[in-house]
Amino acid sequence: MQVIEILREASKRIYENVKDLAGTVDAAGDFGVGAGGDISRNIDIIAEKTVLDYLKEVNFECTVLGEECGRVELSENPKGFVIMDAIDGSANAVRGVPFFCSSLAFATENKLSSVTDGVITNLSNGEMYWASENKGAFFNNKQIKVHKKDPIYKIIGINTSGASIDLMTRLNPIYENYEHTRHFGANALEMAMFAKGLMDIFIDLRNKIRIQDIAAGYVIVKEAGGILLDENLNQLDANLSYDTRISFIAAANQGILDEIMSKINK
Ligand code: IPD
Ligand code: CA
Repeated sequence: MQVIEILREASKRIYENVKDLAGTVDAAGDFGVGAGGDISRNIDIIAEKTVLDYLKEVNFECTVLGEECGRVELSENPKGFVIMDAIDGSANAVRGVPFFCSSLAFATENKLSSVTDGVITNLSNGEMYWASENKGAFFNNKQIKVHKKDPIYKIIGINTSGASIDLMTRLNPIYENYEHTRHFGANALEMAMFAKGLMDIFIDLRNKIRIQDIAAGYVIVKEAGGILLDENLNQLDANLSYDTRISFIAAANQGILDEIMSKINK
């Protein structure tokens, strides 16, 4: 079985196991602080267990880096890392806001740039975004590309949850100059939607996002033809450590990247 098929099946099983849980009291059960630093909710734990059980079932030899469970060695001879945010957008999932997803990625080495496969499933409806290195990005079974043409409405995705006053001041010209700014509350799904061409740029300059939140989005955006950079406009990369927090910019083309970057205050 190919790695992408394993990730897709694991992701599908998460959807089956949590689809009726969002917004229920049961979803919110508190399991203490997880490896990623946030409270692990019952829905997070159920979703992670689904993946761990499946990887064991198919005897996939890997090291799992889960947002809640931390590092789990499933073999003495791992082929690589499964980077798991079983529920991205946990607050939405717990409240029942229908915008949350699972994000599963496979990396051959201890760095983001070695991610070869990624799957993001919209857990409010089961729609799946997925990609493998050099094989393109897909939405269900249809190939997707970032939006290259001049759009009718320019949509600017910006994550500002918990942003500092300093960052909001820097971003203010974007809010003044663009009418259609968006933030939905699950970075992985927002990256996937950007890859499908639904936004022209998606930026998160808070220096807060974890590798688990963006690992699958990394390969999906790249395979959809997007530009993916860090805050200094270098190619995005990072190690897979739990302490790593990053900023990133995903742009559909150089034009929109230059346009938006020229608006951000230094
Ligand atoms: C969160 C979401 C959210 C972002 C937070 C992340 P989680 O992931 O991606 O959009 O603003 O920084 O922590 O905690 O729900 O997996
Ligand atoms: Ca999560």
